[in-house]
Amino acid sequence: MEKHVLELLARTIGYMTIIRVLIAICRWVWATFLRPAKNLKEYGSWALVTGSTDGIGKALAFELASKGLHLILVSRNSTKLKATADEIHGRYGSGVQVRTVVIDFSRDSLEVIGKRIEEGIEGLDVGILINNVGMCNSWPRFFHEADCMADEIIKVNVEGTSRVTKAVLPSMLIKKKGAIVNIGSGSAEILQSFPLLSVYAATKAYIHQFSRSLYVEYKQHGIDVQCQVPLFVATKILPMTLPSFLAPTPEVYSEACLRWIGYEPVCLPYWLHSFQGSLVHAMPKGFLGWVALKYCLHLRKVEKPTVFEQVMKRENEPLFNVLE
Ligand SMILES: NC(=O)c1ccc[n+]([C@@H]2O[C@H](COP(=O)([O-])OP(=O)(O)OC[C@H]3O[C@@H](n4cnc5c(N)ncnc54)[C@H](OP(=O)(O)O)[C@@H]3O)[C@@H](O)[C@H]2O)c1
Ligand SMILES: *[C@@H]1O[C@H](CO)[C@@H](O)[C@H](O)[C@H]1NC(C)=O
Repeated sequence: MEKHVLELLARTIGYMTIIRVLIAICRWVWATFLRPAKNLKEYGSWALVTGSTDGIGKALAFELASKGLHLILVSRNSTKLKATADEIHGRYGSGVQVRTVVIDFSRDSLEVIGKRIEEGIEGLDVGILINNVGMCNSWPRFFHEADCMADEIIKVNVEGTSRVTKAVLPSMLIKKKGAIVNIGSGSAEILQSFPLLSVYAATKAYIHQFSRSLYVEYKQHGIDVQCQVPLFVATKILPMTLPSFLAPTPEVYSEACLRWIGYEPVCLPYWLHSFQGSLVHAMPKGFLGWVALKYCLHLRKVEKPTVFEQVMKRENEPLFNVLE
């Protein structure tokens, strides 16, 4: 009798686990491949993308233009902004309007950032904001090695994103619609500790928490806030990463991004990333921290000559440390 009950219990637990996994897989397949994308033009006719002269931001701007959205490109280099705007006009014709706003998020004050964004969007029906601009150490560093760089990373990733969001939200609140996408990072969401890139990973943890809270805060006002989490994407932020199976080009990556806008508060848009992310997430965190440390120490050795030059141009500080 008792054996019977135990057996029944074990079976029930087994079946429930299998059903849960199956449901999770079905939901993933649905969201990743089958669920129709939202009609992005319904949010408004303009989209603002920060950090849109290179990498993921630039590719996202092209994707949005291909859907017929007008663009406000925000970046630090006016020459690159103009070149990007020309490229977009060249590909999509004059039906897509492009405005540019020059902001250096690591140098300009928060007042200036707010003012330029407010002026840049004045009178426009901005439906989508993509907070993409982000900065990372060009070289894995121990925290004590890189004071001024840490300040810049916090300024760009945390303060810049928050200030731009604050400047764009009021017009979305009036219309009672809008979509805000903040670009996070697997370094915070999946790995949870990232030695030698600690400040970068911490700023991205801020982005995740900020997005989750805003998602709840503004849902009732018709504004969909989301954090999209890339793992590796082959851009210049990671000079050592070449395009591969797990590190798509920004063009391939950004194609996956648009179909998620307006849905979950946090997502990994690229299907191979989300697959990789769930495997890595299931591993013990202590082990992951150890692997990340070994990887970064390895990068410091392998990438020495090229990165050495880059870093020496940026700032004069001792590179090779006693801790190595
Ligand atoms: N690539 C990855 O593997 C990866 C992984 C996880 C998360 N992410 C995140 O994805 C986002 C985009 O990264 P990405 O890989 O596309 O980087 P990227 O290729 O370096 O592009 C960054 C863009 O931001 C602009 N930018 C950088 N610093 C700026 C500043 N201080 N003021 C104004 N604009 C500035 C750059 O302008 P210029 O054209 O003048 O350089 C460029 O347009 C970032 O938030 C990053 O943290 C990337
Ligand atoms: C802006 O970009 C152009 C083209 O890539 C480059 O030649 C120039 O040095 C950049 N300007 C600054 C201030 O970085």
